[in-house]
Amino acid sequence: MSKNTVAIAIDGPAGAGKSTIARKLAEKTGYIYVDTGALYRTVALSVLKNGINPAEVGRVIEHIGTISVDIKYIGGEQRVILNGEDVSDLIRTPEVSMMASDTSAIPEVRAFLLGLQRKLAEEHNVVMDGRDIATVVLPDAKVKIFLTASPEIRAKRRYDELVLKGKGIEFSDVLADLIKRDEQDMNREVAPLRPSEESVIVDTSDLDLEGAVCAMQKVVEEKLNGEI
Ligand code: DC
Repeated sequence: MSKNTVAIAIDGPAGAGKSTIARKLAEKTGYIYVDTGALYRTVALSVLKNGINPAEVGRVIEHIGTISVDIKYIGGEQRVILNGEDVSDLIRTPEVSMMASDTSAIPEVRAFLLGLQRKLAEEHNVVMDGRDIATVVLPDAKVKIFLTASPEIRAKRRYDELVLKGKGIEFSDVLADLIKRDEQDMNREVAPLRPSEESVIVDTSDLDLEGAVCAMQKVVEEKLNGEI
């Protein structure tokens, strides 16, 4: 991050509402929204497409040496690009979610995506969401928020989203996947999911979208002290 750019870091578990709320905050501030989960998903998609077992860490590492992952903004929307192809619409499946959680525990995968994330924050004011933004990617971010909610509420939101997209899925499977991902993301050795010491914790269990955006905006305004 350069001295001239401002970063708002939002971390938290799956389904806490990070992307919806971060997107709204980006609209309000005029900053660009960077969804770092989409980068991990893009790597995961490539690993899946190539039939690589994530437990074969050496093969995953070899594979990432052969691919390119990039972010583009089209009409203000973030798109993720794998080897020149826009894969943004292919990365939102339960298989890719689990594979992203598996492969993101590999330090080389994290290192592979770190430069791109930092470069975006050097060149633009950003609202960046993920798991390790405040702790690792942008430790100097001016605003650090840890967004969370109970597992049941997060699973219900994810389930409703998938049903809306016409996916036939059981709530119990969504909840089980989410709990497994939380556990993997929180307990990995590199850059585990956790709030930084300076992070403000916002629990959205009892808040609707408007309430959550309001709570976040209050934190942002306090921290940026009239800079937006
Ligand atoms: O936010 P998401 O559900 O799209 O993220 C998918 C997976 O990617 C998540 O289970 C863990 C990983 N991830 C990560 O390790 N670090 C980030 N900054 C973002 C996502």
